[in-house]
Amino acid sequence: MVAIDVLRASTTICQALVAGARDILPVAEIEEAKRLAESLGRENTLLCGEREGRIIPGFDLGNSPLEYTPEKVKDKTLVMCTTNGTALLARLGSGGEALIAGFVNAGTVTRYLLRSKDDVAILCAGLLGQFSLEDAVCGGMLVAGLGGRRKVRLSDGAVAGKLLYKRFAKNLLGMLQASHHGAYLTGLGFGQDLEFASRTDACPVLPVFREGRITIKESC
Ligand code: MLT
Repeated sequence: MVAIDVLRASTTICQALVAGARDILPVAEIEEAKRLAESLGRENTLLCGEREGRIIPGFDLGNSPLEYTPEKVKDKTLVMCTTNGTALLARLGSGGEALIAGFVNAGTVTRYLLRSKDDVAILCAGLLGQFSLEDAVCGGMLVAGLGGRRKVRLSDGAVAGKLLYKRFAKNLLGMLQASHHGAYLTGLGFGQDLEFASRTDACPVLPVFREGRITIKESC
């Protein structure tokens, strides 16, 4: 299974791991995040996340990938609470397992999937339960990359994602800027996050959500 929330949870998670975060604990609710961070001890734990795109009051970091520098996150555990992305992972529960993908690590995820013999399910976080263009395009990018696998059988959703990817492949940034959530984030002053999120393979890392936490998958 692969979970995608291009704007911005997937992108931020990839950047946080590249910057040296030890692990990331995704949660759905703000109070749950606060309780978890307190129980872990605040010395090596950061509270991270957003509501309506903005940092949650009292939290250490918001959800902009640009905030996640080595100076801030190296060797830290990040308790992360975002509206759609971490909520999706939290719904998988401690028994669930998923790789996390955005454009910034699409090549790494694709190479891993090409080596795997398992069926692939791609979960797009969307926006408040609705379809979101950027997640579908990113899913389509993975589907297009799996064309090299023998015996590929695609669902209708996978075919649609691949067509969308082909339509926007040459201008991912333009697609992000035109998307509903991208335009909203730009209005909040997070236009640079879209540029970051559009950089294919800028964060060549393979995050895996397993037993309730996100770490770098060892065998990548
Ligand atoms: C989310 O998980 O809902 C998003 O990452 C929202 C955002 O852009 O911060």
